[in-house]
Amino acid sequence: MAAIEILPGIYSVGAVDWNVRNFHGHTYTTQRGSSYNSYLIVDEKTALVDTVYGPFSLELLENIREIVPVEKIDYIIANHVETDHSGALPALMELCPRAKIIGTARCKEGLYKNYYGEWDFREVKSGDELSLGRRTLVFLEAPMIHWPDSMFTYCRQDCLLMPNDAFGQHYATSLRFDDQVDQCSLMDEAEKYYANILWPLGPVILKKIEEVQRSGIPIKMIAPSHGVIWRRDPGRIINSYISWAQGKTEKKAVIAYETMWGATEKMARKIAEGIISAGVEVKLYNVAETDRTEIITRMLTSRGFLFGSSTHDNDMLPNIAAFLEIVKGLRPKGRLAAFFGSYGWAGGAVKEMREILKDSGMEFQSSGISVKYVPDKDELKACFEFGKQFAKLLD
Ligand code: FEO
Repeated sequence: MAAIEILPGIYSVGAVDWNVRNFHGHTYTTQRGSSYNSYLIVDEKTALVDTVYGPFSLELLENIREIVPVEKIDYIIANHVETDHSGALPALMELCPRAKIIGTARCKEGLYKNYYGEWDFREVKSGDELSLGRRTLVFLEAPMIHWPDSMFTYCRQDCLLMPNDAFGQHYATSLRFDDQVDQCSLMDEAEKYYANILWPLGPVILKKIEEVQRSGIPIKMIAPSHGVIWRRDPGRIINSYISWAQGKTEKKAVIAYETMWGATEKMARKIAEGIISAGVEVKLYNVAETDRTEIITRMLTSRGFLFGSSTHDNDMLPNIAAFLEIVKGLRPKGRLAAFFGSYGWAGGAVKEMREILKDSGMEFQSSGISVKYVPDKDELKACFEFGKQFAKLLD
């Protein structure tokens, strides 16, 4: 992708990763690919805000060269250490060794431990500024959004916020702005990104948004480091983040289960029928068959979760176990959970599922429902009632 001027003198020079399908060590499925955004600001001084993932270094360098010789870069703003944004630093610093890298103290430590480069580094704190000539960059530390080193960069004259991962989407497109792409796909990717990366950080995110809003700085454009730039109405994504971070939910349920020979699936379907009978929307996923990134996304605004598993070796099945480990890490406070499953001669799955999630912040409904072997007519009726009662508790 060639460089493109997003504002007078400010260029998008990053790379689109059309083919990436697994991100973060296979913890995130990127069905629509992604991008590593980098922004070049040409003023009396030249600054590059973030770089790209290492394998895309050459593309970054070519894009910069369309605008200025790489050697002319005076500052590289490192908003975040993670390698998808810093991976091109070694290649860049070979070409402009006198450039000063700017980031937080944690960033300095993190970059050194990743690349061991003896680079000129200026540590900055919230409120510190950097004049590029006509423009001034203002820095805002944003620890745990989503790493301790994270920082936002704000260009005062353009009212442009460059918040790195925040407000991003894993969304590969040849278009650069929110108003140019399909709105459903865009918001789905933004929600997926929040749910799978930022969900447990809601309180930190709310505090940071409040801090920015209190400061009264105008934001006309948000240029994140993944996906498209928010220019039509940046308030839209900010308000979505506030709602997600506040844990706002709807009266909806997600059933996530794994089944060995189909009995637990029979239970799942009958529980779903009970939920539907109470007028509540439900989504049903076999975690062994479904992309878990998608399931987590659908859970973000759902008030109720039901987890099911057949018993295997007195425990739950392995795919639901791995899934629940992720759910535990998301700390989905304010949600109601319930458990179900079938077993042969000795149960265990329901107990173990409850155990794994006991410190997740969710409330649990009753002790769950278990069925020996295949559910008969009465047991299926009990599953239906179980779902119906669960749905009633979601008011
Ligand atoms: Fe896109 Fe935290 O890296």
